[in-house]
Amino acid sequence: MAQQETRTANPALIHHWYDPNTTPLNITDGDGVSVWDDNGKEYLDFCSQLYCTNLGHSNEAVIEAMDEQAHQIPYVSSAKRTPVREELASQLAQIAPDGLSNTFFSVSGSEANEIAVQLAREYQDAPTVLTRWRSYHGGTYGAGALTGDPETRATIERHATTSGAAKFLPPIPKAFDTHDPAELARRAGEHLEFVIRNEDPDSIAAILTEPIAGTSGAFPAPPGYFDHVRDLCDEYDILLISDEVITGFGRCGDWFGIQTESVNPDMITFAKGITSAYTPLAGVITTPEIASFVQTNGFDIGQTFGGHPVGCAAGCAALEVYADGVIDNVTDQETILETGLQEIEAEHTVVSDTRGRGFLWAIEFTDPETDEPFQDPRVTDEENPVRDVLQESRKRGALFGSGRPGFQIIISPPLIADQNDLQQALDILNESITAVFG
Ligand SMILES: Cc1ncc(COP(=O)(O)O)c(C=O)c1O
Repeated sequence: MAQQETRTANPALIHHWYDPNTTPLNITDGDGVSVWDDNGKEYLDFCSQLYCTNLGHSNEAVIEAMDEQAHQIPYVSSAKRTPVREELASQLAQIAPDGLSNTFFSVSGSEANEIAVQLAREYQDAPTVLTRWRSYHGGTYGAGALTGDPETRATIERHATTSGAAKFLPPIPKAFDTHDPAELARRAGEHLEFVIRNEDPDSIAAILTEPIAGTSGAFPAPPGYFDHVRDLCDEYDILLISDEVITGFGRCGDWFGIQTESVNPDMITFAKGITSAYTPLAGVITTPEIASFVQTNGFDIGQTFGGHPVGCAAGCAALEVYADGVIDNVTDQETILETGLQEIEAEHTVVSDTRGRGFLWAIEFTDPETDEPFQDPRVTDEENPVRDVLQESRKRGALFGSGRPGFQIIISPPLIADQNDLQQALDILNESITAVFG
């Protein structure tokens, strides 16, 4: 087993999402779409580590830009000006959806979401934010309140409740009992309006949502859904915030995931792919109206590492690389993933659904006898055979993501993956499902 191949874990390190029953890989090297463990075994990194190393593991332009900035001046206070920070803010204004032009930098996706919510509350003078059940917006206390994923919420709220967010159902067939996209969009939109009215529209500052769900299952919204959401936001004076922490920077085939829908949000939050995760950087891009509100009234909040110059240098270099063919690669190759996964679904009765966009896909597993998940981590802690598929893939040299809930697998390669990489990973996934389920 791959677990025995790596050296014993060093107890001095407590790694994140700690699970005493698993031993994570000890990754020592990376190049292109591959990583290597401490035994020299190669893996196709089809989860881009944490859905973030969008340019793979060895982009020289980004590394050189970081090096150059570190030599010029490695750190400047986030309360002061510095050219590279202003340059990146200007570049983000060029690629952001229409109407978004002003960036407040942060460090992580969780913190970017907390800042967006803080801005929305101040601007709207209203306390509540609506987010989806099954969403993921981060694991810090404030972002945890926004997150709908039951495992994260259970961990965070075991000892103290979070506040300030109310939840609505995502537009997925299981929640609204229809597979018809138009009907799904209609029912999910009506439900959202019910929640808005029930909460009291005047108390709602914003709706925060991923445009294409990330770790919760890569599901795109049915056509028309986001038009309905935008209309509701306009009607009830609610800000629309698009969480682009995973979907930003080409992952779904556009600069930002919401650009595939025909609506413009009032803010977007970003992290991960802005630097291809080579160094932490995150932020909120907002409208001139909200920016001018902040610039007029002040905003007495900041973070030491928000808009770190080395991160901003990495961001400027990464944007150039994305524009130079990487996003085109996603749109050119996405059908390979789509059709490959559909073939896997057709071949295995245990695969009940395949969905996604660009280079962000999920497959869902269901017991054909019961039409329910083999194990639903929301309600039981029995053995989960979907985890075994991930282990089998790892043995065969490909890393995929575990969905939350864990009856899904997420496929999210670096955006530079070529036809061969995609086909190889699909073959490994197919063989691994056969190895577990027959
Ligand atoms: C959609 C989304 N929002 C926010 C976050 C939180 O980002 P971070 O882990 O950088 O705090 C994540 C992390 O995976 C995410 O997927």
